[in-house]
Amino acid sequence: MLKNALLLFLFVGTSLCKPLHKRWDDLKVKHAWVDGVPKGWEVVGPAPSEERLAVRIGLKQDGIDDLISHLYAVSDPNHDRYGQHLTKAQVDALSAPHPDSTGLVEDWLSHYDLLHSPECQMTRSSSGDWISLSIPIGQLERMLGTKYYVYKHSATETTLIRTISYSLPTILHDHVTVLTPSTYFSLPKPQRQTSFIEKVGDYAFGALNEAVDIVTNGGVEDSSLPVSPTCDHQITPSCINALYNVSYTPVSTSNNSLGVVGYLNQFASHSDLQKFLTGYKPDAINGDFTVVQVANGGNNQSNPGLEANLDIQYSLSLSYPTPNIYYSVGGSPPYTPDDNTRSNTNEPYLSFIDYILSQTSIPQTITTSYGDDEQTVPPDYAQDVCNGFMKLGVMGSSVLFSSGDNAVGGGDCLSNDGTNSVKFLPIFPATCPYVTTVGGTNGTNPEQAVYFSGGGFSNYFGRPSYQSQPVQNFLTALGQTYSGLYNSSGRAYPDVAAQGLNFQVITGGNIYSVGGTSASSPTFAALVSLLNDARLAAKLPPLGFLNPWLYSQGVKGLNDIVGGSNPGCETPGFQAVKGWDPVTGLGTPNFGLLKDLAVKPTTAGGSAKKRDFSEMGIPRGGW
Ligand SMILES: *[C@@H]1O[C@H](CO)[C@@H](O)[C@H](O)[C@H]1NC(C)=O
Ligand SMILES: *[C@@H]1O[C@H](CO)[C@@H](O)[C@H](O)[C@H]1NC(C)=O
Ligand SMILES: *[C@@H]1O[C@H](CO)[C@@H](O)[C@H](O)[C@H]1NC(C)=O
Ligand SMILES: *[C@@H]1O[C@H](CO)[C@@H](O)[C@H](O)[C@H]1NC(C)=O
Ligand SMILES: *[C@@H]1O[C@H](CO)[C@@H](O)[C@H](O)[C@H]1NC(C)=O
Repeated sequence: MLKNALLLFLFVGTSLCKPLHKRWDDLKVKHAWVDGVPKGWEVVGPAPSEERLAVRIGLKQDGIDDLISHLYAVSDPNHDRYGQHLTKAQVDALSAPHPDSTGLVEDWLSHYDLLHSPECQMTRSSSGDWISLSIPIGQLERMLGTKYYVYKHSATETTLIRTISYSLPTILHDHVTVLTPSTYFSLPKPQRQTSFIEKVGDYAFGALNEAVDIVTNGGVEDSSLPVSPTCDHQITPSCINALYNVSYTPVSTSNNSLGVVGYLNQFASHSDLQKFLTGYKPDAINGDFTVVQVANGGNNQSNPGLEANLDIQYSLSLSYPTPNIYYSVGGSPPYTPDDNTRSNTNEPYLSFIDYILSQTSIPQTITTSYGDDEQTVPPDYAQDVCNGFMKLGVMGSSVLFSSGDNAVGGGDCLSNDGTNSVKFLPIFPATCPYVTTVGGTNGTNPEQAVYFSGGGFSNYFGRPSYQSQPVQNFLTALGQTYSGLYNSSGRAYPDVAAQGLNFQVITGGNIYSVGGTSASSPTFAALVSLLNDARLAAKLPPLGFLNPWLYSQGVKGLNDIVGGSNPGCETPGFQAVKGWDPVTGLGTPNFGLLKDLAVKPTTAGGSAKKRDFSEMGIPRGGW
């Protein structure tokens, strides 16, 4: 007994005598690229050590597992909490870090005299899960046991300050999810936009940008816009309405909106929209969108982007008169004249999530046509971003992403895990299980998978239960084909599909014929927005996170696509077959049927018996 007490005393004594800063020197690798500098980037030189970086530290969110349980409860039409979305305050409370996490990170920062230093301009997100502050690069290198370099992206000449590996004190590993900027090499120009003219070839970053500049039919005046010919060769809003059985006039325009997210230097033009509406949707003339500039995103009306115009012209014309909001997301921290923080931090997804989660009112439907090879996004970074989209779903927003234009994989399909082997390359955020991913089709009779439709299986995210049966059916039929090329336990995508070829778009006054799943996502999203309108008009909550509903009830309102495939990585790719497939998901919308399913009376969600949710972690007093 005495011996034990003595031992305990000695133990406590030792740990007290241990110099406290030891724990900040005990570093362990947080993330490293095994293959070194990411493909397409080259080192220019060491980063200037006096220059400051706008650093963001993500703290582990104590209630994240509870939030995920809430997401599935409120999104599953068979659950008695279906539609009972959480408020921002409830989500904030569950997003808060444990006080121990905050305390440790503050101790770490204060060890380096950063905590209360005015030059650091420290700020925190509303729930405290992010700490942002400006840190001189030399100091940051000592804290993270690494060296930052200036890297240049060869194709776009973009420079970024990044590192290929960083460490954190071992004791912080359970408390910090990610620190940026570090190993995520993002692209600042219209980032790997998933839009191109129907040109087969190299879809590498540079080539994509060239491809979208091709004018197929330029210089046509407003008055002589082509009358819509057959929808097999030119897609217009009337084609979509006819093909997808859409005949609906929105009525909930005071409490329903549709958000279109565009990243870094993609601006949507008001005058191009007017020309588009004049030609293709005359009853919506004078319809307009609002622009919200996030993280210093621009809005140069003299420099419209084809991607931005495609998104807004179709989202708006198909959902008119539903209010549309275009989010132009930059990547820069707020400008402060006396601070030499590098202006360009390029963390686009996080900038948008930060912004939108700080709003009290968010659009019921949000679409983004944007993606990167999943393997180029650090796993911890991808997890944090995906959790951000999850929170939008918990609050009742339907979040849609295009599935990408690289079929089963673009380029040489080489893995960057050190083995350099050929693998199908999935796209993120398409692989995030909390978003609805939209693949592409072409043709109308029959409608079939378009050859570039992105589809496959995540290596980061496991398969969610809402899709386990239909995906298992597909895999069973597939057998050993492509074994080793894809991850059979991963989140499978896309979830659904819509037309993705020959979209007529106006940019700079000219007509372009544009293809890409970046056309499919705003198209599907516009129809979801109409479903949300119908729900609100029927005094029902919006659909929120769609997938549990789509895979159980919504599937009855989708056209199963059973032709076409997505060849890539020198294989014939996957086939679109009966049931779910990794080319067109569950299929394309039949709006009329979906609407009937979405507003049909249901016993779930209206149940009179009130449950005690405290065990699920809903903050008390929140209801
Ligand atoms: C939304 O607006 C419609 C039309 O004005 C109205 O009937 C409905 O009650 C509103 N719904 C909610 C949930 O506020
Ligand atoms: C807006 O874009 C035009 C056309 O690219 C360019 O000439 C002009 O400098 C840009 N304006 C600003 C403020 O960036
Ligand atoms: C759709 O694409 C396939 C493959 O490229 C092509 O064979 C087919 O003709 C296209 N259908 C239409 C209607 O354009
Ligand atoms: C396959 O996916 C699972 C997640 O579902 C992941 O844990 C595993 O590491 C992945 N395998 C490979 C080889 O990436
Ligand atoms: C279109 O939707 C309506 C319901 O609004 C449905 O009655 C009709 O059968 C649908 N048409 C087709 C061709 O599926």
